[in-house]
Amino acid sequence: MEILILGGGGQVGTELKAYPWPETVSLHAPDRASLDITDEAAVARIIAARDWAAVINAAAYTAVDKAESEVAAAWRLNALAPAILAAATHAKAIPLVHVSTDYVFDGSSSGA
Ligand SMILES: NC(=O)c1ccc[n+]([C@@H]2O[C@H](COP(=O)([O-])OP(=O)(O)OC[C@H]3O[C@@H](n4cnc5c(N)ncnc54)[C@H](OP(=O)(O)O)[C@@H]3O)[C@@H](O)[C@H]2O)c1
Repeated sequence: MEILILGGGGQVGTELKAYPWPETVSLHAPDRASLDITDEAAVARIIAARDWAAVINAAAYTAVDKAESEVAAAWRLNALAPAILAAATHAKAIPLVHVSTDYVFDGSSSGA
């Protein structure tokens, strides 16, 4: 089975690539230069390219100290890109695993 890892060059992505996956798993981890996940058309192309068993998104805007001065950049990566990925994977019924932080979503639907 083929699994697509996004943000494979980051801390979480690097650990995901190093994980001892079963031999049946083939990982694909394009870097940002190959795939900008805020580019809807590029995401659509890679989702259509293979019969992915799952997509794992470990790409994120993580420069928290800069987020308040780079609001647009943070929003594109942490809000727009997950929405693009969710729509593209949902259309092909591909499971999407989105790695985030409890600073963004604490796991309760009410947000309380
Ligand atoms: N690290 C932790 O201990 C930890 C703990 C809990 C939760 N998390 C969560 O896990 C997620 C990833 O964290 P991290 O620490 O691995 O972050 P990171 O080291 O900053 O890695 C982020 C990755 O996203 C890539 N990226 C940035 N913009 C992109 C774009 N437009 N298109 C495609 N890829 C892009 C970066 O590529 P470049 O290398 O080219 O910039 C980098 O590989 C975040 O949501 C974070 O909150 C992390």
